[in-house]
Amino acid sequence: MDLESFARLLTPDGQTALAEADAVLATGAGPVEAVSALRRRYDPDLVSATLTQAGLRRRAVAKFGGDAAKMYFTPHGLEQATRPEVAEHRAKRLAGLSVADACCGIGGDLIAQARAGCEVDAVDLDPLTVAVARANAEALGVRATVRLADATTLDPSAYDALFADPARRTTKGRVFDPAAYSPTWNVILDLVGRARKACLKVAPGIPYEYIPDGMEAEWVSFKGEVKEAVLWSGSSGRRATLLPSGETMTARDVEADVAPIGSYLYEPDGAAVRAHLIGEVAEIVDGRLIDPQIAYLSADSHVPTPWAAGYRVEEVMPFSLKKLRSALRERNVGAVTIKKRGSAVDVEKLRHDLRLSGEGSIVVLLTRLGTRPVAVLATEMGR
Ligand SMILES: C[S@@+](CC[C@H](N)C(=O)[O-])C[C@H]1O[C@@H](n2cnc3c(N)ncnc32)[C@H](O)[C@@H]1O
Repeated sequence: MDLESFARLLTPDGQTALAEADAVLATGAGPVEAVSALRRRYDPDLVSATLTQAGLRRRAVAKFGGDAAKMYFTPHGLEQATRPEVAEHRAKRLAGLSVADACCGIGGDLIAQARAGCEVDAVDLDPLTVAVARANAEALGVRATVRLADATTLDPSAYDALFADPARRTTKGRVFDPAAYSPTWNVILDLVGRARKACLKVAPGIPYEYIPDGMEAEWVSFKGEVKEAVLWSGSSGRRATLLPSGETMTARDVEADVAPIGSYLYEPDGAAVRAHLIGEVAEIVDGRLIDPQIAYLSADSHVPTPWAAGYRVEEVMPFSLKKLRSALRERNVGAVTIKKRGSAVDVEKLRHDLRLSGEGSIVVLLTRLGTRPVAVLATEMGR
């Protein structure tokens, strides 16, 4: 989709055609059927633009819920947008401030910030993305300025806060090194240095050495999946936050003991692992590390906690395909959930090679104790 066909979508004719495309796809029509239904009334360019947009809206429901039906997307913009629950959590700490959103994308964050009472001035380098973000603000009835500009032209000192969610994707795919973000890490640090307050969204795997002194690093997970790290100026230390509950925990640098695997195994939430809060989680479950290098904890009783998934240990065995297969067959297992930490095993290949056909189900946690690979057969206890 280009800027011109997007602009056409926003005209009265475009809106009627888009509403029809939404309705056609809602019937479950396939691509050929949908095109021929719309081609009776609209030209090929409009049909293509509306069906693309209607398809993106359907895909966006998983992230944006009910708002998706009113919003506009580009494929990349949708993929890179922050989900509302995560954006809202962050926006709470910026509530009521004037905020410069230095690389706004299709507007996931700016919408949450505007809804939190921020006065948002948002920029993006890409003209289509700017048009989409502006249309989203209007469609959802939030007040924000959305402009085409390079982040480098911003004067962060003119706002209460700077927010930046740099692009972590190039034409070659995902970028893991912050030096390759766009805007570049140096540009971002320069903006942060001139800002009164700053909030940066970065990849959860950001190497610790990139976290600037004097910024708090917060790792955020949503329904057990780590979504992002956020760097906050004016604060320090490490924090993990669980969404949607909002439970949060800061680092106290608690050291966990190491001891053999007991009756229960705990898999700490990824946000706690990334924030190096394993000792703090160990304290909650009265647990020990099973190995100094592995983020699995073990304990003699089950303490339900949102900070870790618990498993009742059924058997611990040295890992070998043959031994594991016969143990699972003996237990009449057909469905196996395989988890791993510190194991190089290819999970899909293992699942295939196990060739199970029983009735029961079990969890297999693959890990290592020192250099010894082990498999733990376990029953899920939940959080
Ligand atoms: C990860 S996306 C932002 C997503 C957004 N926070 C959301 O929730 O929808 C990053 C955006 O940065 C923009 N960008 C990259 N370099 C930029 C620059 N130098 N100035 C302004 N925007 C830039 C890209 O066009 C992209 O839309």
